[in-house]
Amino acid sequence: GVVVAQSEEQAHAAVDMMLVDNGMGSAGARVVIEDFLEGEEASFIVMVDGEHVLPLASSQDHKRLLDGDAGPNTGGMGAISPVPFADEAFLRKVEDRIVAPTINGLNAEEIPFCGFLFIGLMNVNGNPFVIEYNVRMGDPETEVVMPRLKTDLLSLLRAAGTKQLSAENPKFNSETAVTVMLVSGGYPEGYEKGKEISGLEKITESRIFHAGTKNDNGQLVTNGGRVLAITSLDAEREEALNKSYRSIDQIMFDQMNYRKDIGFDLR
Ligand code: GLY
Repeated sequence: GVVVAQSEEQAHAAVDMMLVDNGMGSAGARVVIEDFLEGEEASFIVMVDGEHVLPLASSQDHKRLLDGDAGPNTGGMGAISPVPFADEAFLRKVEDRIVAPTINGLNAEEIPFCGFLFIGLMNVNGNPFVIEYNVRMGDPETEVVMPRLKTDLLSLLRAAGTKQLSAENPKFNSETAVTVMLVSGGYPEGYEKGKEISGLEKITESRIFHAGTKNDNGQLVTNGGRVLAITSLDAEREEALNKSYRSIDQIMFDQMNYRKDIGFDLR
């Protein structure tokens, strides 16, 4: 139910569609109008123990289906971590202007929160603005944040559950992590399942995360829109990307589709 209006006319038309023409039924009976934010998006995932906050590494999703950020939105076609523009000054603004007020606000409303808080942001000329919150990690952000985590995840989870997060100082690999999602032809619209997947045994320089796959009598086949995430790490972002794309060259399934430009726009 979101319309990103490119002009005032489009905004008026969207409001009329929802409130006058009832174009979205009861889901469009109440309308929220927000500022149009222009900039680059990033995801910030923090752990919260009800009071203390532990920021994890920054990351950036690529939500559009096609290269050059074109085509329909998807659940995520690839991600990188860390985000180059998320320097210390930017991260401080995120913490001071967004994370701390969010946790204080939750506590003021007596909604103690313990877990992962995902904040989707837009960087507008160096200033962070919230686009969305989720009370979970992100996908495919997790596939680039977790491979960089050097600290034991279980100890962090235990600290969150016992209100000890203030004592934790997680370490992240300084290398860049990238992930490229392999999707079924037709996704995010209709797609076929059950396509045989081959080549995974040849992958040596990337880590493979299974999303929409299943074992069909010993044969790995596709079983969803987003099928596999191919994650690689390297000190150089470009080389991490090259590793993932070299790995993808080894993998095959009928109508396999993926973006060729994940992270290259950040060069
Ligand atoms: N990648 C966006 C999300 O997980 O919501």
